[in-house]
Amino acid sequence: MKLSQKIQEMELSPIRKFVPYADAARKQGKKVYGLNIGQPDIKTPTVFFDAVKNFNQEVLAYANSHGIPELLDALVGYYKRIGLDYTTDDLLITNGGSEALSMIMTAILDEGDEVIMAEPFYTNYKTFIKAAGGDIVAIPTTAEDGYQYAVREKIEGVITPKTKAIAIISPGNPTGKVLTEEEMALIVDIVVKNDLYLICDEVYREFTYDGRELRSFGSFKEAEQNVIIVDSVSKRFSACGARIGSIASKNRELMQNLMKICQARLCCPTLDQVGAAALYNLDPSYFNDIKKEYEYRRDVSVQALNEIEGIKYGVPEGAFYITCQLPVDDAEKFLMFLLQEFDVDGETTMFAPAAGFYGTPGVGKSDIRIAYVLKAEDMKKGINIIKEGIKAYNAKQGK
Ligand SMILES: Cc1ncc(COP(=O)(O)O)c(C=O)c1O
Repeated sequence: MKLSQKIQEMELSPIRKFVPYADAARKQGKKVYGLNIGQPDIKTPTVFFDAVKNFNQEVLAYANSHGIPELLDALVGYYKRIGLDYTTDDLLITNGGSEALSMIMTAILDEGDEVIMAEPFYTNYKTFIKAAGGDIVAIPTTAEDGYQYAVREKIEGVITPKTKAIAIISPGNPTGKVLTEEEMALIVDIVVKNDLYLICDEVYREFTYDGRELRSFGSFKEAEQNVIIVDSVSKRFSACGARIGSIASKNRELMQNLMKICQARLCCPTLDQVGAAALYNLDPSYFNDIKKEYEYRRDVSVQALNEIEGIKYGVPEGAFYITCQLPVDDAEKFLMFLLQEFDVDGETTMFAPAAGFYGTPGVGKSDIRIAYVLKAEDMKKGINIIKEGIKAYNAKQGK
């Protein structure tokens, strides 16, 4: 028996790969600050749990493949409030944004097709795209250039006859880059002219800082057939365990074909959809405090990072991640050192080594991604451990 070439070329997620080592450190009695994963400590709104508790049907039956009507209606209402006129026919409910992305890649890619993405990018796109037979073509960006990729020559320079789509994550994971309206308009112009799908991962839509307002790609009428919006309750409502995401598109052909996959996977969990409907019915004022809290955590994290000599990073404009280049030879080795050999008063820190967030081989070996999803005090302590750890690690290496 032989595994597929495809699966052999895939990698474990650098966000989760080191969890067993963190668990082992915890077993030894160490406290580990989990800055590796975008799992916020902010409470899930109680309306989610109330809705689930009030579920009063006697059989927990399969739901529609499309999604339950209450959730589809709630999502239509949410989009309406942000100025988008999606109807229930333009929506599909998925098992998280993750399944939405997998389905989209399967629906649009043939073997050897290409998807353009700015790197570093959310690492799991590699697996979604590889599983569908495609390849990522990366546009390199750096902290120094503000992670800028919406430049005509940069994008048009990598379009080939195999290019099927441009995938954009804005606000960005792992850089926190938020596209300006002008940058979005440029990308829209390119996809329309080149007849490409535009996969718009807007799962962090509400989390933009310093007064930035995010316009959704869904509002560009001229690209309505190109645009595919991916959303999720995971980050938006701090409900990662609900596993509810969605696809929104006016492209009927795409949506009708996606239904083939939706029907084969039957449906998304009924109770999670009931809870998610209550979340999408929340008043938009819900986001005011949450956004302020993340902005505060960002500021505190940035201040703490500034204490680390030799570090390079770009200040995030949105989402809740910071990509940093550390003054260490190898971020994976450094993480193992933190988890297995180092602590400050019985505490250590876990982050995601970021080499796996790049498409270009050999890039990002000293990079890490931290998620500022913990309370400000915990962020300060967790980052201070990284600072002290760097000194101890480099001293051990004889540097
Ligand atoms: C940019 C981006 N897209 C999609 C996802 C998938 O999230 P979920 O499957 O929980 O909706 C994540 C999760 O971290 C993400 O960061």
